[in-house]
Amino acid sequence: MRRTESAPLRTSAGRVAGLGLAMLTIVASMMLWAQSSKLTSKPGLRVPSDVSWTEDTIALASGGSVVRGLILSRRCDRCHGGEGFSSRPTTPNLAGLDRLSFWKQLQDFRSGKRPSFIMQQVLQFVLPESDPDLAAYYSMLPTSSDPQDVREFPSAAPAAGHTTIAARLVSLGDGRRGIPPCQACHGPVAFVRGAPPLRAQNTGYILEQLEAFADASRANDINISMRSISAALTDEERRALAEYYGAGFGMNSAGATAAP
Ligand code: HEC
Ligand code: HEC
Repeated sequence: MRRTESAPLRTSAGRVAGLGLAMLTIVASMMLWAQSSKLTSKPGLRVPSDVSWTEDTIALASGGSVVRGLILSRRCDRCHGGEGFSSRPTTPNLAGLDRLSFWKQLQDFRSGKRPSFIMQQVLQFVLPESDPDLAAYYSMLPTSSDPQDVREFPSAAPAAGHTTIAARLVSLGDGRRGIPPCQACHGPVAFVRGAPPLRAQNTGYILEQLEAFADASRANDINISMRSISAALTDEERRALAEYYGAGFGMNSAGATAAP
């Protein structure tokens, strides 16, 4: 008798609990939605990268094994080339990239801070623990040329007038517009942590990245440095810089300053 009486009670209690849970889910998803729309409507407040340079991240990014990286790198050959030089203009060369820049980009692809459908798919099949190994391997690949290899780099010399425009920006920048010299961060004069060397990078890729920074579709640069620099450049300057580095003119600082 008692059992049958308490049964409806129990079900209504269950129903109340169920309703509570549904409400909670709705409230929680509304809060999430509000938070995400706040983030997207104010891009300035968005954190550019989950990576910050601390003793721990630096030790992690630089502690990989070249041999383990070599084995894993076979999965990357198809696009980035067997020697770290790509045959496609908009696919980056990885040979000689420093470990910190390399590792940071992989973290940013993984977290979606740097959107790339291709690299996100690729990294689903690579353990994050292997990222330092891949960084170690590619950082020691030589950037010297190999006639047997099919590579996009170096491309033809810059268009007329572009060498002058680029050489000036690379070695002097433009103080009036707040553009520091590229070589003060990307080498060979000095390197800022996380700024990859551009000396052996493809024209097409550099141009695409500069345009992406300028319109903030690539926004994973800590301190907004590249977004503000690239937005201050003209279309022609971005093209000139891409052609300059892509032709191999950024190899040494003497080349940058001595160019006509
Ligand atoms: C299917 C082609 C493809 C494969 C395979 C591939 N990548 Fe990429 N990778 C790209 C493209 C294209 C980009 C440029 C980002 C973009 O535009 O999506 C890129 C960008 C990168 C970058 C950033 C470089 C820079 O200068 O910022 C790194 C690092 C990288 N890939 C590492 C790897 C590693 C390591 C593997 C193998 C585990 C790999 N990639 C496999 C196509 C590929
Ligand atoms: C204040 C230092 C600084 C200066 C000056 C600077 N950069 Fe950068 N640049 C960086 C950093 C740091 C990154 C890496 C951003 C990130 O974390 O993704 C970067 C990234 C880039 C990339 C993307 C490279 C890749 O492999 O994906 C290009 C291209 C580039 N810079 C070009 C330039 C050019 C051209 C100039 C000169 C007009 C310049 N930069 C001046 C700091 C600088």
